[in-house]
Amino acid sequence: MAERADEILVHADPEALARGAADWLCAAAIAATGSFSVCLAGGSTPKRLYELLSGPGTRERFPWQRVHWFWGDERFVPPTDPQSNYAMARAAMLSRAPVPPENVHPMPTEGGSPAESAAAYERALQAFYGASALDPRRPLFDVTLLGLGEDGHTASLFPATSALDERRRWVIAVTGAKPEARVSLTFPALNASRNVAFLVAGVAKRAILEKVRRGEDYPAARVKPILRLLWFVDRAAAGDGG
Ligand code: 6PG
Repeated sequence: MAERADEILVHADPEALARGAADWLCAAAIAATGSFSVCLAGGSTPKRLYELLSGPGTRERFPWQRVHWFWGDERFVPPTDPQSNYAMARAAMLSRAPVPPENVHPMPTEGGSPAESAAAYERALQAFYGASALDPRRPLFDVTLLGLGEDGHTASLFPATSALDERRRWVIAVTGAKPEARVSLTFPALNASRNVAFLVAGVAKRAILEKVRRGEDYPAARVKPILRLLWFVDRAAAGDGG
């Protein structure tokens, strides 16, 4: 197996970070042959990346027909709720580009419990993958995008929760960590990515970014993709070390 390489890419500001990540993701999708699967991050940082991907100059080049879109986590709110990660990606990208509806795989957040949603999404992922056991020689995702919380969480894997130790399930319900219930991929599923790209911007993330990259045991530090771990950061988050 190829040696995994970590790379930090420092950009002048959030706009340059989003542009750099969009160009990288577009190039990766174009270079791939056949189906290409992307697991999207929630929160606010990725929004500009999604807008640039579906914006002039990139929209025409991106291979929308063969790219599938998944989510790393979701707030358990209706898909029209402003808190919804699906709603953010739909408004910023999926509604602005020629995306085949069958290529969009949101986490269900209506008509059942968070646990039922997690089980349903796990079934959907296994159906897409074609197996119920992950094989590191065959990644589940080509690219997983992730954000970094100031407490070191990523997706909805929060510090000091049992979710961090899940090794069997691919998707779990997360309750009690935030006011709203969440549904999140677990480390086995997140780490079944060929590439992971963290998107980290702003001076408020500087301290946690340094700790995570130093290997201190925060949830985000447990993300270990199969091939490449990239950090798209801006200078404010990178600090002097950037
Ligand atoms: C979410 C995300 C979460 C996010 C971080 C960073 O649903 O909120 O999955 O993990 O990526 O909290 O969020 P910002 O990009 O808004 O700083």
